[in-house]
Amino acid sequence: MPSKRLGYESRKKSFWHLPKVNAVHKLTLPVKATCTSVVALSAILIYVNVYYGLVFALLATNLATLWYYSRNEKPIIAQPGRFHMKYKYNEEQTNNAKYEIICADAVQWLNSQTVLDGYVVTSLPDYSEMQHLTLEQWKEWFTNTVQLICEKMPSDSTCIFYQTDVKITHQAQYGEKKRVVCEEYIDKSYLCQLGASRANVKLLWHKNFLLSYVGAVKFGRPNFSHMLCFGKDKVDKLEQFSLPDVLDRGDMIYPKATGINACLIAMFHCKNAGAKTIIDPFCGKGSILLAANYFGLDAIGVDIGTTRCREAKKMRENSMQHFIDVVQAKSFMAKPSKEN
Ligand SMILES: C[S@@+](CC[C@H](N)C(=O)[O-])C[C@H]1O[C@@H](n2cnc3c(N)ncnc32)[C@H](O)[C@@H]1O
Repeated sequence: MPSKRLGYESRKKSFWHLPKVNAVHKLTLPVKATCTSVVALSAILIYVNVYYGLVFALLATNLATLWYYSRNEKPIIAQPGRFHMKYKYNEEQTNNAKYEIICADAVQWLNSQTVLDGYVVTSLPDYSEMQHLTLEQWKEWFTNTVQLICEKMPSDSTCIFYQTDVKITHQAQYGEKKRVVCEEYIDKSYLCQLGASRANVKLLWHKNFLLSYVGAVKFGRPNFSHMLCFGKDKVDKLEQFSLPDVLDRGDMIYPKATGINACLIAMFHCKNAGAKTIIDPFCGKGSILLAANYFGLDAIGVDIGTTRCREAKKMRENSMQHFIDVVQAKSFMAKPSKEN
């Protein structure tokens, strides 16, 4: 029965991954130095008297074993790169894939479309990128934009949002000084789900991408990003590929970009769900669009910043090969090394 098998597997795994916390773990440097001295002494004794020498050697071996295990003690950390995604890259498909950048306000552009002709994969701008809005206005804008994207999505497609939560510091004036009165945690997964529920679409899956290793302490932002996939009447085929739920984000082509591994997971989903075109209404320098072309999918990007639009075009013209090299050497696509 699969459930029993799973239980057995996880017990077995947790046994082998248990840290060796016992007396050996507490061995200190002086103890290790003593072990080394005993080994030296036993060697001398064997030379002088074989019987006493062997007794000492036995003792020394035991101590050396203890010392060896204490040296090999390691904390449990994330093992990035363990998951390997199999996809056969086709250079011709990538070269033939379309890449279009539209310099416009995404909300206006979305409103001008009757139905979107593709699958949306995007990252809405953070509050810090929209200084002209108050926090409450930004939350409303964010939720409304998610709702708009979900409403414009064709019933047989999906939309994916990749968002990182933030902590906002609220201050108040006390006499001449300002003091922190509250640190608000903004959960963008909640805001996405609020917008999607208003558009009456369903959450198909939710993954987390680690920005650093397990156990890392971060300030201002948490150590993970959400990736949420919504659909209307879509049967999600992704489950049959058994993709993991917690992954490492991978390299970024610039700060605040979508991590390469996150782009690849989204593209892998879209490709297998039957997408031909990927739309990123907040494309930035185009990480998601490059990943779309890597999978041979047409890409349409929208961004309000003229510089960003120029950079996104340049990225495709000048850096596509570099992107492919990084994907094939350092992402989930890279062949796992022997250690993995
Ligand atoms: C989080 S970044 C997107 C990063 C992108 N996914 C990448 O990996 O390169 C958000 C982008 O939204 C753009 N932006 C902000 N407000 C916008 C709007 N109203 N319409 C279109 N783009 C906008 C910003 O210029 C910024 O490049």
